[in-house]
Amino acid sequence: MTKRIAVIGGDGIGPEVTKQGVKVLEKLSQITDLDFEFEEFSIGADHYLATGELVTDEVKADLLNFDAIYLGAVGDPRVKPGVLEHGILLDLRFSLDQYINLRPIKLLDSKFTPLKGKGPKDIDMMIVRENTEGLYAGVGGFFKKGTKDEVATQEMINTYKGVERVIRYAYEYAQKRNKNNKLTLCDKSNVLTYSHDLWQRVFKEVGEKYPDVTQHHMLVDAMTMKMVRNPEIFDVVVTCNMFGDIITDLGAEIQGGMGMAVSGNINPEGVSMFEPVHGSAPDIAGQNKANPLAALLAAAMMVEVLGNPKEAQMIQKAIDLSLAENQTTIDMGGKLTTDGVGDYICSVLG
Ligand code: NAD
Ligand code: IPM
Ligand code: MN
Repeated sequence: MTKRIAVIGGDGIGPEVTKQGVKVLEKLSQITDLDFEFEEFSIGADHYLATGELVTDEVKADLLNFDAIYLGAVGDPRVKPGVLEHGILLDLRFSLDQYINLRPIKLLDSKFTPLKGKGPKDIDMMIVRENTEGLYAGVGGFFKKGTKDEVATQEMINTYKGVERVIRYAYEYAQKRNKNNKLTLCDKSNVLTYSHDLWQRVFKEVGEKYPDVTQHHMLVDAMTMKMVRNPEIFDVVVTCNMFGDIITDLGAEIQGGMGMAVSGNINPEGVSMFEPVHGSAPDIAGQNKANPLAALLAAAMMVEVLGNPKEAQMIQKAIDLSLAENQTTIDMGGKLTTDGVGDYICSVLG
């Protein structure tokens, strides 16, 4: 059956890595019953600089006709920080109501973690990040801007509905996940006494329906320390938008670097979007040296969420092999180019 995929390569290394993903999915369709139809959207810095457009209402309406969105990254040094990030990435997450951000932190091979003595059994957790509100809601402003009396505010918006649905999703996930059915709430309730008080109350309230899930709490500052010192204590972690962003870059590093971290923006009732955690990496763009594995893991997650776990596993197996055989880019200690890794994955798929 044919899956319609909207491809937004975006900026910098974004299109370089999504190109590998499309290549691998095309190969997958040759050897399985799965079929894909790709449509590329030219959204990003070039399009913005040429037309002033970010994502139009027509494009957003069109995206609803796809089974999923496959995104590279946005962000460009020629454009003021925040314009593309808010106007494209956050606008898509918010307007498509992708309220869950699934970010697995999974070490595939001991040789890739900087943590001494830790292996794949120790570094294996799922971060469930709230993805539509919190400090990202864009509420706030300037008072007396440009003067010495200036005050700038950025409000943290937490709705009962928003907090409840992400916490419920995380409990469900912890119940299904094959580790120890433990859910950690990561917050800063000792300081954010309104926002994270709500999270604490909802965490307990929803938890009553999941007696088989062990409840665990950790303040975000201690969380960063524990992720480095004792990552094995985490199974599923639920957290707000801002903290989820920060701890998943830390998570990326302990699982092998930014080139290995994957992110699914999920609307369980709508269209979801899959992307690497990393950005457009202007420092290495155009050099054919970006690691495409995060984008390939994103492709695998997309295939799985679309209901094809067996085919997703085929991509995962090919990635495992590339790591075992050192058929990787320079950041992973290999010698291949971005294209080279994509070609290798295609050649060993299945
Ligand atoms: P970044 O993730 O782009 O890069 C951080 C570092 O990691 C850089 O040294 C880069 O070379 C390296 N890196 C990242 N991905 C890599 C890969 N696949 N292979 C090898 N090395 C890789 O973060 P940044 O430099 O802070 O941000 C650059 C731009 O990207 C900014 O405009 C930022 O707003 C944007 N950004 C976008 C997204 C997104 O679209 N999802 C995410 C993060 C940052
Ligand atoms: C990410 C990115 C985005 C975020 C930015 C670019 C808006 O850092 O996907 O992790 O903060 O969510
Ligand atoms: Mn981030």
